[in-house]
Amino acid sequence: MSIHAESSQQLGKSSPALSPFDFLKEELDAVDHCIRQQALAFDPAVEPYVSYVLNNGGKRIRPVLTLLSGGATGGIHEDHHKMASILELIHIATLVHDDIIDGAEIRRQAPTANAKWGPALSVLLGDALFAHALTLASEFDDASVSRSVSKAASDVCSGEIIQTRRRFDFLLSREDYFHIIRMKTAALFAAGTELGARLNGQPASVQASLRDFGFHLGTAYQVYDDCLDLVGDENAVGKTLRTDLNKGKLTLPILNLLARATERQREKLHRLFLQREPIDVSALANIADYEGSIESALDTGFGFVEKARECLGVLSGGPHADGLHHLCDLLDTLLRACREH
Ligand code: IPE
Ligand code: IPE
Ligand code: MG
Ligand code: MG
Repeated sequence: MSIHAESSQQLGKSSPALSPFDFLKEELDAVDHCIRQQALAFDPAVEPYVSYVLNNGGKRIRPVLTLLSGGATGGIHEDHHKMASILELIHIATLVHDDIIDGAEIRRQAPTANAKWGPALSVLLGDALFAHALTLASEFDDASVSRSVSKAASDVCSGEIIQTRRRFDFLLSREDYFHIIRMKTAALFAAGTELGARLNGQPASVQASLRDFGFHLGTAYQVYDDCLDLVGDENAVGKTLRTDLNKGKLTLPILNLLARATERQREKLHRLFLQREPIDVSALANIADYEGSIESALDTGFGFVEKARECLGVLSGGPHADGLHHLCDLLDTLLRACREH
């Protein structure tokens, strides 16, 4: 299913008949095939676990970014398929680990690896996926490619480490929050768009603009996801939601809520959060300006999408460049849909 159709569906909206990414279907099918094939590289005793997490779909945003960036800077080649697959493998590895940390039961409409096999096996499964992705990256002749992939993987894990360290830390600032989400989410988006151009031998300036594009878009995407965690419908989204607060992740809408609260309201919120129990959002709305806090986070998301758009001036047009613009429009649509929750 196309990213547009699926993402719209995620928020319970009807899917548009024509997706702006339909023209990528063959390329995405090739990437999907490549991703599934990777399970065969593992020991037969391990392959079924790998297959389970690789075959569960997902929106394939990082592959779409890599392919569009390649297409917009000279054309999509086999190296782009391979890079798209590598980045998706890294993404899946982080999700397998993230679901252990968050105690999430459902991912991509199916039980998480952790729910099926527990944390010990899932930690190792995520590790095996990371290692395999980096093995594939080492096959590129240009060593800078595998260096960039490894750096992105390390950034994602570092972002998750910092986030974990700072759970329930009410001193977390907005700057700290953005630092975390740039590492845990935007770094992989940025690697996809930058490497899409690098694989076509584009000059450093073009690579940098596309990297900045991925960075801003990835930041907007995590802001959106953090709002979705509060306002989304679990069945429609297909993953466990409302874990951020009871796991102590102080996301942007929550930071806004705390910042807008009076001293007494803030104390009440701190007490509520520290109970570490599932929190009904109506309880938040009864204490402080919940709606305004979501609204303000969504505005921040729109701002990052706009910054991303501004980076696309470097491209000379065509369907793939248009596709990158469409991706920005899609994220705007998703942010607007959060507003109507
Ligand atoms: C989920 O990423 C984790 C975040 C960075 C918010 P996606 O929303 O891209 O998840 P899939 O790949 O579609 O399942
Ligand atoms: C993104 O954070 C996780 C990674 C980048 C690994 P979340 O914890 O918000 O992602 P979801 O909501 O579980 O997909
Ligand atoms: Mg999570
Ligand atoms: Mg989330």
